[in-house]
Order: sequence, then C-alpha cells, then structure tokens
Amino acid sequence: MQLSTRTKILHITIAFTMIFLLIIGIYMSETETFSLYPLHKSIGVIVFLFTAFRVLTRIREGWPKVIGNASKIQLAMAKIVHWGLITLTVLYPVSGMMMSGGGGHGITVFGLELLASNHDDISGKTIALNETISSIGHNLHETLVPVLILLIVIHVAGALKHHFFDKDKTITRMFSFK
Ligand code: HEM
Ligand code: HEM
Repeated sequence: MQLSTRTKILHITIAFTMIFLLIIGIYMSETETFSLYPLHKSIGVIVFLFTAFRVLTRIREGWPKVIGNASKIQLAMAKIVHWGLITLTVLYPVSGMMMSGGGGHGITVFGLELLASNHDDISGKTIALNETISSIGHNLHETLVPVLILLIVIHVAGALKHHFFDKDKTITRMFSFK
C-alpha cells in the first residue's frame, strides 16, 4: 500500500513541529523565557490547522497498512501509539489555546490577534476570562508531557526497528517523495 503525498507531507510537517514545540515549550517554561511564548503559541495555533486536516485525512483514507508480518501484539502496539500520537497532536494545541485564551493572555499568531488579552491597566494584572477552561488547558498541557515523550520514543524506536532489523520499507515509504 502506497501512502498519499498528503499523508507524507502532513506527517513530516507535524512530526518536526511537535518535537520543536515540545523542546521549546519545556525550555521556555523551565527557564521562564517569556520572550519565546509568542513564537511557541503562533506555531502551535498554525500546526492545529494541519492536525485537524490530518484527522480528516485519516478518516477519509484510513491508517497505513502494516508492511510485512507483524504479531498481534505488534499490531496492537502500533495502533495504540498511532492513536495516542494523533490524539495528542490535537490535544496539545487545543489545551494551549484553552490555557492562554481562558487565562486572559490572548491568542496571537505572529502579530495577528485572534483573541484579545484581558489586561487590567489599573491593577496591571491579567484577568482570566474563564479560570476553569484555563486550568484544564494548563493541566493537560503539563501532565501530558511525559506521555507525549514516551509515545514519540516508542514510535521512533518502532520505526527504526522496521528499518534496521526487519529491513522493510516502513520508513522509506513514509519519507520518500519520488
Ligand atoms: C522524527 C521521527 C519520526 C519517524 C522516523 C516517524 C516514522 C513514521 C513512520 C515510518 C510511519 C508509518 C507507519 C506505518 O507505515 O505503519 C509513521 C506514522 C505516524 N506517525 Fe511518525 N515518525 C516520527 C515522528 C512522529 C511524531 C513526532 C509524531 C506525532 C507527534 C508522529 C505521528 C505519527 C502518526 C499519527 C502516524 C500514523 C500515520 C499518519 O497519520 O501519518 N510521528 N511515523
Ligand atoms: C501544538 C503543539 C504544542 C506543543 C507540543 C506544546 C508543548 C508545550 C510544552 C511541552 C510546554 C511545557 C509544559 C511544562 O513543562 O509545563 C508548553 C508550555 C506552554 N505552551 Fe505549549 N505546546 C503546543 C501548543 C501551544 C499553543 C497553541 C499555545 C497557546 C496558544 C501554547 C501555550 C503554551 C504556554 C503559555 C506555555 C507555558 C506554560 C507555563 O508557563 O506554565 N502551546 N507547551
């Protein structure tokens, strides 16, 4: 089974953007580098459009059929990891927007204001639009970090196993555009 060009372009774009935002997100919140927040949020909102389109693509085209003979356990693992990853690629931007939008910090994409911040000029404080939405978003964004990292590690390890041990075309099929 060949993969559609759309599947391959969406995979490569979303995969590298998610890894980039994961690294930048951990770095900026650990070191409190607030100057990176607008970049993180802007790319995150844009990647959401790609992830939504990818979900529609999976509904229309189905999932890639596994190459070679895989055991039932391997098939189940691949299914769980693919479902987990695609879910997190949607949950991450959504929870980010809930956290920032609900928290009153606003949502801006490279200077284009999608949701204004709710800043009180007199007290100098940012007032949340909806505390509950904001804290659900924050909790999801924070607690899912180890889950996302674990899924990516298992996923990449599985892909490398296909390439170097099984010596099949799983990786080349996904990354070649000939
Ligand atoms: C950079 C290292 C990565 C490699 C080498 C890689 C490799 C692959 C390969 C070979 C497939 C096809 C599997 C098959 O044919 O059964 C695949 C599918 C998939 N990958 Fe990755 N991947 C990487 C990163 C990621 C990341 C970071 C994510 C998400 C956060 C991701 C999400 C997915 C999903 C959801 C699928 C299912 C098919 C689709 O919707 O595109 N991958 N990956
Ligand atoms: C699309 C994929 C995204 C990924 C993979 C991602 C990932 C992350 C990660 C890993 C962190 C660090 C969490 C921690 O260690 O506490 C973080 C922080 C943050 N993200 Fe995202 N993010 C994404 C999208 C977004 C979006 C769309 C927004 C808002 C519009 C956003 C807003 C934030 C904010 C404000 C923080 C800092 C939270 C804090 O200071 O506690 N993110 N992100």
